[in-house]
Amino acid sequence: MKAAAAALAVSASFLAVSVVLAQTRSSDKPPVGAAPKYDPAIYAELQKAPEKARNRANPLQNDADAVAAGAILFEQHCAECHGDAAQGGKKGPNLRAVEVQGATPGAIFWILTNGVVRKGMPVWSKLPEPQRWQLVRYIKSLGEAARVGESPAPKP
Ligand code: HEC
Repeated sequence: MKAAAAALAVSASFLAVSVVLAQTRSSDKPPVGAAPKYDPAIYAELQKAPEKARNRANPLQNDADAVAAGAILFEQHCAECHGDAAQGGKKGPNLRAVEVQGATPGAIFWILTNGVVRKGMPVWSKLPEPQRWQLVRYIKSLGEAARVGESPAPKP
């Protein structure tokens, strides 16, 4: 009985040692962190807008109908990638993100005009300028809604 207990103690301590060894080994590996759904680098393009474009004011800033018109355009042209409520979809990132909401109207207009073609964001220069500004108003209005906690984004 005594011998069996001793053997058990030995194997238990052997087990402890190998567990410690295994842990040391695995800590050499890089941590397997969950990758964020959208890399913040996605929005880096907005930062590249030249100063002149960035500082351009939205000529429809005080147009009462611009947000509603922009919403219709968004549904027609953008929702398939960015989601019905711009919350992000399979092909395009969330436009309610701080990176977009913090950008100037001019920077968003510049993105629409130039696209990010190599990364899958089309050029929208064929839309007349007033329509692009309406889209900018609509996108910006989403940030205001989010701040007061209105309408949670519906599922795609
Ligand atoms: C075919 C899919 C697709 C469509 C349609 C599309 N987008 Fe995008 N959009 C993308 C992708 C992909 C990105 C991310 C590009 C990147 O990595 O920079 C993006 C990025 C953006 C950005 C963030 C800019 C940035 O820094 O990348 C804005 C703003 C935007 N889109 C607005 C729009 C608007 C407004 C429309 C409709 C007129 C639209 N998009 C239509 C795919 C799309």
